[in-house]
Amino acid sequence: MDDAQLHDLQERTPELAALLAEGSAAAAAAAEPDALEQVRVRFLGRKSRLTEILRSISSLPAAERPVVGKLGNVVRVELERLVAAREDELRGASLAAALTAERLDITLPGVPLPRGHRHLISRTIREVEDIFLGMGYKVAEGPEIELDYYNFTALNTPDDHPARSVDDTFFIDQRTAIRRAAGDAGASPAGAAAVSAAGSPGGDAAASAPVVGDLLLRTQTSPVQVRTMESQEPPVYIICPGKVYRPDLDATHTPMFHQVEGLAVDRGITLADLKGTLHQFAREFFGADRAIRLRPHFFPFTEPSVELDVQCLLCGGTGCRSCKYSGWLEILGAGMVDPNLYGFVGYDSGELQGFAFGMGVERMAMLKHGVPDARALFDNDLRFLEQF
Ligand code: DAH
Repeated sequence: MDDAQLHDLQERTPELAALLAEGSAAAAAAAEPDALEQVRVRFLGRKSRLTEILRSISSLPAAERPVVGKLGNVVRVELERLVAAREDELRGASLAAALTAERLDITLPGVPLPRGHRHLISRTIREVEDIFLGMGYKVAEGPEIELDYYNFTALNTPDDHPARSVDDTFFIDQRTAIRRAAGDAGASPAGAAAVSAAGSPGGDAAASAPVVGDLLLRTQTSPVQVRTMESQEPPVYIICPGKVYRPDLDATHTPMFHQVEGLAVDRGITLADLKGTLHQFAREFFGADRAIRLRPHFFPFTEPSVELDVQCLLCGGTGCRSCKYSGWLEILGAGMVDPNLYGFVGYDSGELQGFAFGMGVERMAMLKHGVPDARALFDNDLRFLEQF
């Protein structure tokens, strides 16, 4: 509303001017939305004086009608504007108040999530994998629940081999295990084979000769050798990391542990290739200046078989408690693949040669990092695990 209109208003309709002054003061004084609504009802509502004046225009003298009609509307529009403006103000103020009251300090640092890292065993497996991948090997896998055939028979393991007893192997079929234990006392391996072939699961268990159990938790990663050769043509260059199981528990043995198996089958492979490969591996894993030696040994699936020793990491070869004063630590088993194995997988034993090796991951990690007790690796005590 401009000055001329205001002047007009005061001169010609003092009551409307007064209503405007009163209404605008009341709107400005309203401190919260409810109070403002009351102001709106009082000055602009159906029963307000302004509405009354505008409704009764027809009863005014003809000369006053247009003046009161026009100025009345000006006052109504102006009051509506003032109320709306005050409403905006109040809303803004309450928003500002809420924002202050509920303010989040986003500059406060959050609760830090501790960052983990790979377990020493996983790390060691990766280290070993890296070394052999660098030499052109591929990683192979096999099942942890294994057939007796792959874990023992096809690895050239005789029926009466001690590894096939319940003391060394977790058999999955308990009945089979019990029969085996009962039979072990007297029956001959030939008898075992006969009962196995006849396959009489419901028979008189304890009385019969031992049977060859079908299912077991693999005791070594070596069955992956057989599975791999069965499923692919030579040449073969694989390593197989994985969990294996044996009924042992002491400072250096846990019932579940890890091995990495290796197998190379090709033409013209000799023991010198095995030695060179293992030497390269030992140098990369334990350090370039470590000496190694091969010692004759026996495994059913290699001929000849060897064990690999590395110069003691603690004393460097002079002799200490850790190496039982020999200066050497046993690292792994290995050998030239026994030609009998080729017969199980349909390879031509006249044309092919190969070597294999198998190492315990826990043992490697313990030696490298000076861990005295294998059980600590699986206790999940962060104070221990965080060191690596
Ligand atoms: N499987 C053997 C073990 O459990 C380790 C081993 C020895 C694996 C000689 C091999 C090998 O492949 O050639 O103790």
